[in-house]
Amino acid sequence: MDDPVQAQYEAYPYPARDPRDEARRLVTGSPSELAEVNHYLFAGRRDFRRPFRALVAGGGTGDAAIMLGQQLADRGGAGEVVYLDLSSAARRTAEARAEVRGLANVTFVTGALEDLPSLGLGTFDYIDCCGVLHHLEDPATGLRALAAVLEEPGGMGLMLYGEYGRTGVYPMQAMLRELGRGLKLEDRVGLARRLMADLPGTNWLRRNPYLGDHERSDAELVDLFLHSRDRAFTVPQLAELARSAGLDIVAFVEPARYEPTTYLGDPELLARLEGLDRVERAGFAEALAGNLKKHIFYAAKAGSGDGRVARPDRPEAVPILGRLPAAALAAALKREAALKVDLDGMALSLPLPGLDGEIVARIDGRTSLAELHADLQEHRPNLDWLAFKAAFDRVYEALGGLNHLWIAYPPSDQ
Ligand SMILES: C[S@@+](CC[C@H](N)C(=O)[O-])C[C@H]1O[C@@H](n2cnc3c(N)ncnc32)[C@H](O)[C@@H]1O
Repeated sequence: MDDPVQAQYEAYPYPARDPRDEARRLVTGSPSELAEVNHYLFAGRRDFRRPFRALVAGGGTGDAAIMLGQQLADRGGAGEVVYLDLSSAARRTAEARAEVRGLANVTFVTGALEDLPSLGLGTFDYIDCCGVLHHLEDPATGLRALAAVLEEPGGMGLMLYGEYGRTGVYPMQAMLRELGRGLKLEDRVGLARRLMADLPGTNWLRRNPYLGDHERSDAELVDLFLHSRDRAFTVPQLAELARSAGLDIVAFVEPARYEPTTYLGDPELLARLEGLDRVERAGFAEALAGNLKKHIFYAAKAGSGDGRVARPDRPEAVPILGRLPAAALAAALKREAALKVDLDGMALSLPLPGLDGEIVARIDGRTSLAELHADLQEHRPNLDWLAFKAAFDRVYEALGGLNHLWIAYPPSDQ
């Protein structure tokens, strides 16, 4: 095995997972949760009971493949998932997780994603590739290989490291290469822990408290500080990478973190940004915030991106609260009339007064805007559609901006 990246993931499959945990919880997250994919790539109109092929490229120990496989199985349809990874150790964990769940719709393949066009695995409606391309010798070649097996209409959910938010990581990597010369990977783990414990207060890692992954496990530590090949991207570099593979970036997650108005209040400065397009605004927001450690984004074939993201502009739109329980959120809004969040050190308070909280309390992932309006009218008879919609739009901007609210349309509406 001469590829150092493959050797690393054979020794430290990532992320560390115990298949027995499948009996008690499903790991979910961005990208690739099915309702989120529907929202950002299929305008909320994909019926997942119809045939749907997903590829998880560089699937690691299986988080995305298991989540997609389970969610497709739950919808009772003809959806299938292909898992692909270089590491057979990672694959063993992923396979064991599928077995605990009794998932029959996930196929496991060991191989390099660069070889996809010749692997004979077919084409895919959706491709997940998280935390992988930045480890390739040539990320653009990898992305082009993925684009070559992407169906149209279809799309990708990607995660690549963010340059500014990883401030402190690369000097650590350089020091550890120096300190660890000639040592085996497992011995360098101990060295990394010693160095972390002895860093001066001025060190950039010490000054970047939002990088805590390495404290969770050896696999996380190896991934962060002892990686054999790893680079980070700015938004303009991502846009160029996507362009080189014939793709457009459709949306960043969480959208609000990529929008300058989230951070800037000065109207004169904001006015000067008005001519920028969505991706340029995202690049500005990234430079401004400085804390984006990773970029999660959805991409589609160039020129096909317009209208991909669902909009709540019709009464039959069904809002779905992503990972926040409606009752807890509504209770918090009742107390504070604002949604308070902390985004890696950036505190936000989004006002959501009275009616907005009542709307949130009624969102159950099945009820349409028209039905929510009718329900609210029972005790607010004067609430017309325009006033309801204005309140819902505030909710959508706040919660959607944080990727907590997605939109779907009923399958009959396709
Ligand atoms: C950081 S892990 C991410 C795993 C998973 N995508 C996740 O987000 O949990 C990177 C994975 O990519 C795999 N990998 C790296 N280079 C690859 C390549 N060229 N082809 C296929 N898999 C690759 C590694 O073996 C490893 O399992």
